[in-house]
Amino acid sequence: SKTYYATTPIYYVNSVPHIGHLYTTTLAHTACQWGQLVSGTECRLTGTDEYGSKVMKAAAANKMEPLDYCNKISARFKDMSDKFGIQYYDFIRTTEGRHRDTVQHFWEGCKILFHINSTWSSSYEGWYCTSDETFLTDSQIEEVVDKHTGKTQLLSRDSGHPVEWTKETNYMFSLSLFIDIIREKVLSDPNFVYPAKAKNTVLRLLDEHTGDLSVSRESSRVPWGIPVPGDPTQTIYVWMDALVNYLTVTGYPDTGYVKMWPADVHFIGVDILKFHAVFWPAFLLAAGLELPKQIVASCHWTIENSKMSKSKGNVVDPFKMADSVTAEGFKYFLLRQGVLEHDCNYREQLVYEVINADIVNILGNCLNRAVAKRLNPQQKYPPFNKEIFNKDENGNCRDGRITDLDFAYIEQVKKLPEMANIHCSKFHFYNAIFEMMSVAREANMMIHRHEAWKLDSKDPADLLLLESIIHSVFEGLRVTGILLQPIIPILADKLLTRLNIPQSERTWAKANESF
Ligand code: MSP
Repeated sequence: SKTYYATTPIYYVNSVPHIGHLYTTTLAHTACQWGQLVSGTECRLTGTDEYGSKVMKAAAANKMEPLDYCNKISARFKDMSDKFGIQYYDFIRTTEGRHRDTVQHFWEGCKILFHINSTWSSSYEGWYCTSDETFLTDSQIEEVVDKHTGKTQLLSRDSGHPVEWTKETNYMFSLSLFIDIIREKVLSDPNFVYPAKAKNTVLRLLDEHTGDLSVSRESSRVPWGIPVPGDPTQTIYVWMDALVNYLTVTGYPDTGYVKMWPADVHFIGVDILKFHAVFWPAFLLAAGLELPKQIVASCHWTIENSKMSKSKGNVVDPFKMADSVTAEGFKYFLLRQGVLEHDCNYREQLVYEVINADIVNILGNCLNRAVAKRLNPQQKYPPFNKEIFNKDENGNCRDGRITDLDFAYIEQVKKLPEMANIHCSKFHFYNAIFEMMSVAREANMMIHRHEAWKLDSKDPADLLLLESIIHSVFEGLRVTGILLQPIIPILADKLLTRLNIPQSERTWAKANESF
């Protein structure tokens, strides 16, 4: 049977990790963990993208050999995954031999199949953006006057990085042969590029990309890369090299690769949509391979409404934030606040506010109150008394103290797994978390509404009500705890342990059995 295969982008090692990288990796990891809770699926991947001129320049700026520099920064990305409890099925580095072999094989695959029509060598000239490692058309660049120097600069419209006129002999790929096929795929399969905002961007990009694509660089200019097989004067285009990492991990071209390929989902940021939803499908079609099932593109974290990026020097260090609010607390914040469809503005103060409001005040308070000796002197998981939560033929509660709000809460707990699953299947983790927190909030309200601390456990009627309230609160917390496992496993474990829920009962099936 095929393994569920989700990928993250492989990150450039021209600088250390920041929270934008952590966010995309966390999305992919949480999606896998959620899949594992609901249906037992497993697999995730992460790694580093190590070739190309900007990595070479960064190594030189640090007075290091490129590979030594890559070893150092790649280790930081691995550390980030470890620190944030993100398990990787495979941590790929593009400087590995296995990857070079796959890329060169893939190159031959594209070349053999489409030699006449799609790949040939020609002189290419155009605007080149080194930061993005890409040629750009006239419509993709803009003239901007530098506020400080007053000089006019040409920049990429999309990324804001400078471009320069470059002329060289490259292997060319007839991208135009595949544009219509890809457009058809995007239009006919609504999940292929997700969410809808990203899909519309891709349709626009497909309209813009009609010409050929240069898929190599002169090795004299870009020596840090994988050579074109049989032509050492050329280096394979770093984006083709990088994209093929998704195949390297599957063992391609060994036949076993079909156990993993096609990928179920590529998680990326919108900044690299063009490469994943236009170039990558075209390369795969040229090589006669299946397309990934889905590409999920999330918007960016911004600081003062400007994209957080290493080149702008406005990045937030995930390690520092983990030291301040714990790795899980910070991951919780990212998932709670991050929205696929909109950029999210980062404020450190907001991190503390969100964690305090949700984890400390709502979840923590609710648990502490429900397990406190005062409310629950025998420290037990008391029974739920169906009799008092019973309505008569006129729809009135038999026990006048039970209100519609109590019934609504019980329904909310029962529906929570289904609701959370709907949101998580769309990668809207923030909505799933919102549902979970509103259950915990309502659980708190139930204690309040009935002034549970005033009930007299020696009075039989009060005892029935008190036990039912505690049971209802515990049930809300138990179901929430099970569903939080893919998101904040350490805290979820603490919560479930405090409620005495054995490991074997922390399952999806058990989350669906309440009341
Ligand atoms: N190496 C390429 C990807 C190759 S994949 C075959 C690359 N690397 S990157 O390090 O520059 O960024 C990769 C990804 O990091 C982005 O696509 C995005 O998912 C994430 N982010 C980088 N900055 C980000 C934000 N400010 N906010 C959210 N995510 C961001 O591109």
